[in-house]
Amino acid sequence: MTGWRVREFHNDDLDGILHLWEAQRRSAHEPVYDLSEVVASCQKDHAIVAVHGEELVGAVVGRAAHDQGWIVFFGIAEDWRGRGIGSAMLAALEKRMAPHGLTKLSALIPENESRVDAFANQGFEAKHQLRYFERRIPVQRQELTSLAELGGRLLPRTLWESVAGMRREKEILEQRLVLPLAEPDLADRYGVVPPRAVVLFGPPGTGKTTFAKAIASRLEWSFVEVFPSRLAADPRGLAGALRETFTKIAELEHAVVFIDEVEEIAAQRSGEPPSPLQGVTNELLKIIPAFREQPGRLLVCATNFIRALDSAFLRHGRFDYVIPIGLPDDAARLAIWQRYVPEQVVREVDLPLLVERTAGFSPADIEFAARSASQRAFEAAVRNGATAIGTDASGVADASGLADASGRPAGPSTEDYLDAIGTTRTTVSAETAEAFLEDIEALARV
Ligand SMILES: Nc1ncnc2c1ncn2[C@@H]1O[C@H](COP(=O)(O)OP(=O)(O)OP(=O)(O)O)[C@@H](O)[C@H]1O
Ligand SMILES: [Mg+2]
Repeated sequence: MTGWRVREFHNDDLDGILHLWEAQRRSAHEPVYDLSEVVASCQKDHAIVAVHGEELVGAVVGRAAHDQGWIVFFGIAEDWRGRGIGSAMLAALEKRMAPHGLTKLSALIPENESRVDAFANQGFEAKHQLRYFERRIPVQRQELTSLAELGGRLLPRTLWESVAGMRREKEILEQRLVLPLAEPDLADRYGVVPPRAVVLFGPPGTGKTTFAKAIASRLEWSFVEVFPSRLAADPRGLAGALRETFTKIAELEHAVVFIDEVEEIAAQRSGEPPSPLQGVTNELLKIIPAFREQPGRLLVCATNFIRALDSAFLRHGRFDYVIPIGLPDDAARLAIWQRYVPEQVVREVDLPLLVERTAGFSPADIEFAARSASQRAFEAAVRNGATAIGTDASGVADASGLADASGRPAGPSTEDYLDAIGTTRTTVSAETAEAFLEDIEALARV
């Protein structure tokens, strides 16, 4: 098999390049440059092919980025290796690209690719001690308009970690929701069907909204909150507006869609006089099956009144899980206190005592008590002449803002916290807590 030659790329060569790219993906690993990038560079940048008669047996594609050129594809058909085709193509590519003012030409080669002679022959030098990092941009440009129209956004990546305590809930959400959605191929191999819709229920302030956002953050999916009460003002009517919203959501690659206080639109249809929002229950019931058919999205509904929901709404097949988010136990309250007590005093404050005194508090109650203690302690410190950056009136640095007279680090004390706890009214009454336990018994599905 002789008689190959190297020439410039023509559009007719694309098919052959596609085959080479596919072959490479099967044999080595996912190529660094996506096929779409390679094709774009064939057409707009620089490409050289090797042919034997009509057959395309090799290709190299390069792209100049300022002074540096990158080889975005290098491939030779299996039967045509070891004949100098690679070196010849690289030489031709360099000749073509050099006039553009390149100072160097670079290539990324899979670590397990042993056949790199062509590069060595052409004077490429292997650079060791380099590692390749790659990050997929979670929201692609073409989605940005839809996302903006929906009022959706990409949340910071740290929200999941910042949910303190709540180990049990976190574990359930991670195992049932996050992992199958983040690893759909693996889940599929085990016959696990990734969830499409879930309900979070529990007393006020226990972290339902926080968790919905944390899930989106953890998956790096866009977070889109749907506000039925706002849609109600839409001239198309609530049902039409809801339909329209979900059509737009379907344009996103990935999304966590959140409906808070879902009982407002999915309350039991019989009984009391129908509220204007109730007409929409049917619409939502119709939307969910279509929503469930699209991968890469999760509907999260939250409610304080799970028992008020229409039973048809909750039935199997619509929601994969109905997950209780309850009051934090001792360990969770400790974690939550640790989160809200400033770092410089956290070792001085009697946290176990705070944990004990806040049994029955929701995370929101603890947050409120912690913030009031901080505010009061801060006001007292200012009254007593503490300054912000630790300089006294003469401008000489001192520790007044950093420690009190006894040398204790400045900040709220255990007393401040106990005072604030004493004046915080818990949101969740004993009856509500009791009713929640009954709801878990009757309606939870995890
Ligand atoms: N595990 C947690 N760690 C730290 N802060 C938390 C935690 N859970 C909730 N919070 C805080 O408590 C407040 C209330 O939480 P969130 O709004 O998520 O509760 P919710 O269950 O959605 O309440 P509602 O039923 O009233 O909508 C928020 O300010 C949140 O930051
Ligand atoms: Mg909420």
